[in-house]
Amino acid sequence: MILVTGGAGFIGSNFVLDWLAQSNEPVVNVDKLTYAGNLNNLLALQGRPEHIFVRVDIRDTAGIEALLNTHKPRAIVHFAAESHVDRSIHGPGEFISTNINGTFSMLEAARAYWTGLPEAECAGFRFLHVSTDEVFGSLGDADPAFSETTAYAPNSPYSASKAAADHLVRSYHHTYGLPTLTTNCSNNYGPYHFPEKLIPLMIANALAGKALPVYGDGKNVRDWLYVSDHCAAIRQVLQKGRCGETYNIGGWNEKTNLEVVHTLCAILDELKPNAGHASYREQIHFVTDRPGHDRRYAIDARKIERELGWKPVETFESGIKKTVQWYLDNQTWVAEVQSGAYQNWVEKNYNQRDTAVTTQDGKP
Ligand code: NAD
Ligand code: DAU
Repeated sequence: MILVTGGAGFIGSNFVLDWLAQSNEPVVNVDKLTYAGNLNNLLALQGRPEHIFVRVDIRDTAGIEALLNTHKPRAIVHFAAESHVDRSIHGPGEFISTNINGTFSMLEAARAYWTGLPEAECAGFRFLHVSTDEVFGSLGDADPAFSETTAYAPNSPYSASKAAADHLVRSYHHTYGLPTLTTNCSNNYGPYHFPEKLIPLMIANALAGKALPVYGDGKNVRDWLYVSDHCAAIRQVLQKGRCGETYNIGGWNEKTNLEVVHTLCAILDELKPNAGHASYREQIHFVTDRPGHDRRYAIDARKIERELGWKPVETFESGIKKTVQWYLDNQTWVAEVQSGAYQNWVEKNYNQRDTAVTTQDGKP
């Protein structure tokens, strides 16, 4: 069996669902269920004894060690983290604690467990740490994409906390020989994406007749990867990756934020036209930029393709259509996660931003 952390979050739940759709190998799913963790994401697994959910904080080293000794997994896939850049700007403390101390705690528990394994199991054990392309900082328009040897230059409390975690993982391999693997992935999108992030937020706001808040000039570039492609890449790294190595994972889909929002509006105009027949584009508002906003991310994903034979299956066009359709079909899921504490967050993040421009083409 394997142990997954953060398996009730966006990528983690997609990973667990994909894993158990493809195999009967059991998964121990460890999640604290913060605002971002949602057991409704895993409803399809009801009645599947191979899915064992445990509510534990990754910072509880003894609790994690006990779980490892009870279930004896052959691998850990570590997703659990605070993941939202804007939240890290408003309150970095939880990011330092969860992402750095939490990863340290996971590494300590894993080291103790791994050291005690019989020789054959010890050699086969893997600790796969899921990280981000944001650790590499920001690119200029003409810069080459991030490769595995690009120097770290994190710019937000979130990315700095992930960078610190990556360094700890690296050190546990070099110092103790822990068989680690690290993946640095670009922006994911798809089902169960929490509607605080760009794509699901824009879909939810569009349908609710609310403003579509584009930060700054909307020309920041992200590389988009459909979440099931990310899950497939992680399975491949787990199976064939070389210990101590890092692998960049990306979708070869660089888009400006404005392109993404325009695409979403066009798909919604087609699938769910506004009652008054106005395009959703008219809801676009340009708002005060994110402090320290990274301009461009781009991933060079040739190493994982060359060494492990992985490349994405979805294009941005196919993935984004599936995503919009999923949100149209799952509006109850969105309504549920948007209730309660989420409302306080919306007030904190958006009510203080000036609305600079309200036209659809970005012109004042
Ligand atoms: P998410 O915020 O949707 O989910 C995080 C999960 O971790 C939640 O279920 C939450 O309850 C759990 N969690 C948080 N703190 C915990 C703690 N102390 N103990 C146990 N569980 C805890 O995040 P996501 O978007 O699914 O990202 C998953 C991982 O992938 C993160 O490590 C993130 O840095 C990384 N990543 C995300 C993206 C992306 O585009 N979303 C891209 C690259 C890398
Ligand atoms: O690159 C990988 C990273 O992608 C992950 O490590 C993070 O966990 C994940 O949250 C994501 O970070 P971003 O900051 O790129 O994602 P977000 O969806 O918050 O924003 C995407 C872009 O859209 C970014 O340039 C900011 C912009 N944006 C975002 C929101 C929420 C807006 O213009 N308006 C918004 O309301």
